[in-house]
Amino acid sequence: MIYDFDKVIDRRNTECVKYDKREDVFGKADVIPMWVADMDFPTADFIREAVIERAKGDVYGYTFREDEYYESIAQWIERHHQWKTKKEWMAFTPGVVSAFNMAVMGLTNEGDEIIIQPPVYHPFFYAVNNHNRKLVQNTLIDTEDGFVMDYDLLEKQAKTAKMLILCNPHNPVGRSWKKEELLRLGEICMRNNVLVFSDEIHCDLVMPGFKHTPFASLSEEFAHNSITAHAASKTFNLAGMATSTVIIPNEKLRNKFVDYVHSTESDLGNIFGKIATKAAMEKGDEWHSQLINYIKGNIDFATDFIRKEMPKVRIHETEATYMIWLNFKDYGYSDEELNRKMIHEAGLGLNSGNLFGKDGECCMRVNLACPRSVVEKALMQMKDVFG
Ligand SMILES: Cc1ncc(COP(=O)(O)O)c(C=O)c1O
Repeated sequence: MIYDFDKVIDRRNTECVKYDKREDVFGKADVIPMWVADMDFPTADFIREAVIERAKGDVYGYTFREDEYYESIAQWIERHHQWKTKKEWMAFTPGVVSAFNMAVMGLTNEGDEIIIQPPVYHPFFYAVNNHNRKLVQNTLIDTEDGFVMDYDLLEKQAKTAKMLILCNPHNPVGRSWKKEELLRLGEICMRNNVLVFSDEIHCDLVMPGFKHTPFASLSEEFAHNSITAHAASKTFNLAGMATSTVIIPNEKLRNKFVDYVHSTESDLGNIFGKIATKAAMEKGDEWHSQLINYIKGNIDFATDFIRKEMPKVRIHETEATYMIWLNFKDYGYSDEELNRKMIHEAGLGLNSGNLFGKDGECCMRVNLACPRSVVEKALMQMKDVFG
């Protein structure tokens, strides 16, 4: 079956954040929305069918996740990332954001130092700040060849920190961290007793030519000193299902985490999230492979267009995620002016880079998980203002 990612779907008036909150967020209801990280592609047929089939049932009562559910996730991870996990290591969380919030609350104490690596997914900041932990920023270094980690600084910061929240692959800068990079980070954390929370929600959105390495797959020691978060939600566009899985091989750590989740009474989850996730994990290989090719096409098209038509915009190779990271610093605009121009002159609703930390100022994150025709239109509008 050939899936049609070119089809334009009207998502307006579906209580969809990306479209129906444009007026609130941008002050302009008709910007092309390329901000919130979900996709404008139709849900895969086999997922819809599974959900519809269950929806035909008479009762939508409390439901647990059966062994086969976790087995489907373990098999997906082994097939796609060659990491052998066990269903016993897994636990449900109602989303990856709630997973790292609960890890912070359940596994660290007030005042503890927690390291993040900006520019990074903004809820990492909130998870630390909202619970009175101390934010430690191990800012990534922007080199000619792309973003890299600052290990010298990390060595110093790790001495007193309790946890590091890793974004693997990294949103928004699109890095698929290499084995050597993760090994170096992991060794520093091991040596200093820093627990690693590896957010791997984008692990199935790695571009051809790159390979995702699950942090915990690198060594038994790393596995025992980490929590990995996985979800089908980014890859299969199921964010509204609020369903994710944490993988914690260390029994003591797992019990502590699971006890904490249980204490919040949020471990029962939602029935359709489980149905959709299992269908994706069991039947999604072909859809996933076509999706990656399509997104890669969008990324290549956008990267070439920007380099040719807007050479003042800096863009690195995008190794993972369906977002590109654009640096407008060479234009000399203030952050405010750049945002104003993007919304009111170019007519684009993008994520302002400052959302991801101070170093993101004068940068923009652009979500390319939409039909090619939309990417083309958006880039033409951008060129009219920045070309
Ligand atoms: C790194 C990262 N983690 C987590 C999430 C969201 O996770 P969830 O919707 O499962 O809470 C996103 C969404 O963009 C993300 O980029």
